[in-house]
Amino acid sequence: MNIILLGPPGAGKGTQAKILEDRRGMKQLSTGDMLRAAIAEGSDLGKRAKAVMDRGELVSDDVVVGIIAQRLDQPDVARGFILDGFPRNTAQAEALDKMLRKKDLQLDRVIEIKVEDEALIDRIAGRYSCASCGAAYHDQFASPRKPGICDNCSATQFVRRPDDNPAVVRDRLKVYNSQTAPLIDYYGKTGALRTVNGMADIGEVTRQIETKLNGA
Ligand code: AP5
Repeated sequence: MNIILLGPPGAGKGTQAKILEDRRGMKQLSTGDMLRAAIAEGSDLGKRAKAVMDRGELVSDDVVVGIIAQRLDQPDVARGFILDGFPRNTAQAEALDKMLRKKDLQLDRVIEIKVEDEALIDRIAGRYSCASCGAAYHDQFASPRKPGICDNCSATQFVRRPDDNPAVVRDRLKVYNSQTAPLIDYYGKTGALRTVNGMADIGEVTRQIETKLNGA
């Protein structure tokens, strides 16, 4: 099954994509993670993307469309994929349609995760991850079992994303509302769109998504 998780920053796209990947064997394709990996490698692409991402703006369509086109050619997407953070505007959605037609692939569902703006700011401002293995935590909602020690790898260093400060998050929300939210209408017209209540707890959001993937 091939799906898109659509929603504003902090809606829970990454959280739900990882759960679905574990449960269903579909591959999470997060353009944000791929761009952050390019930044960590210090590649030219990463250097160009960093300044744009730190301001909360969108990296150019050519770059992200190219990344996804290459990724869809890899064998590990054969059991399906979960697009997380792509497409982010109409031009990217049209490029994706073209790409899928060329590769003879179909899009089965677009899941919109709906969350109120104030909750998004709280979620993002509290988010951090293990500097060593990348395990995700949150100040209020998901602390490590032993304070200051990663549950997964026992490391003691943690990091926060540079674009996760409240001022940049507000700019990211503006970009979402002006450029990405129109995709709700775009996919509504295709019949693939389903909406879930992202204000519910993580397990309940997963349950709603599973219901939508199973046919509702
Ligand atoms: P990207 O990395 O895609 O970030 P984003 O879309 O802003 O989304 P986030 O990763 O912040 O949030 P999420 O929805 O995944 O939420 P999460 O699960 O982490 O993009 C970053 C930047 O890269 C962009 O600004 C842009 O510059 C560039 N970029 C990326 N893709 C691009 C593209 N296609 N085109 C151009 N530029 C692109 O959850 C957030 C927190 O909330 C976590 O702490 C989690 O534990 C918690 N949480 C999750 N669900 C719940 C729940 N139900 N209840 C309570 N807490 C919850």
